[in-house]
Amino acid sequence: MKLRIGILASHGGSNMQAIIDACGNNKINGEVSVVISNNSSAGAVKKAENARIQVYHLSSRNYPGSDELDEAMLLVLKKHKVNIIVLAGYMKKLGPMVISKFQNRILNIHPALLPKYGGRGMYGDKVHKAVIESGDKESGATIHLVNDKYDDGRILSQVIVQISDDDNPETLAAKVLAQEHRLYPITLEKISKGEIKL
Ligand code: GRF
Repeated sequence: MKLRIGILASHGGSNMQAIIDACGNNKINGEVSVVISNNSSAGAVKKAENARIQVYHLSSRNYPGSDELDEAMLLVLKKHKVNIIVLAGYMKKLGPMVISKFQNRILNIHPALLPKYGGRGMYGDKVHKAVIESGDKESGATIHLVNDKYDDGRILSQVIVQISDDDNPETLAAKVLAQEHRLYPITLEKISKGEIKL
């Protein structure tokens, strides 16, 4: 299936860039059709503009009611004929309409080996700090389907990263992020080939 990917991003957009590049190199049978960010100054917005992908700023600032934002997002996704939503460092919870219209069609990446170190409040450096403090010898990244609970949907793929004695949350974050840039394109490639069923 040819993927028409809608990416939602709040931060730097390095995962988004890895996906754009993989589509450009024909690794993924698909294209990034649209990018949505809740943060107009996110690096992801600049990167999307540089790649000449249409980008929308949708947030509770311009859509104060939660239904309004949900509807606006749905409209943009429909307009660009998106058939799969990819959350790449998106820091907001999706609205119920988008979740139900795109059931089993929304992916998220989490910077740890779910189900460990997931759930509400577990994001960014907090995850890596908790992993280091636990004394675990490995961490990694997980791509999973999104439902209405945090980090709870079916796990689609994982990559393991070894933790060395001198790692700290920052060095671990960098190691994990580098692997995320491989895991997202590989997973989307497998989905486009039907090797991972949604
Ligand atoms: C990644 O660590 C991802 O796991 C988390 O947010 C970060 C996004 O980084 N959900 P970037 O915006 O893709 O550079």
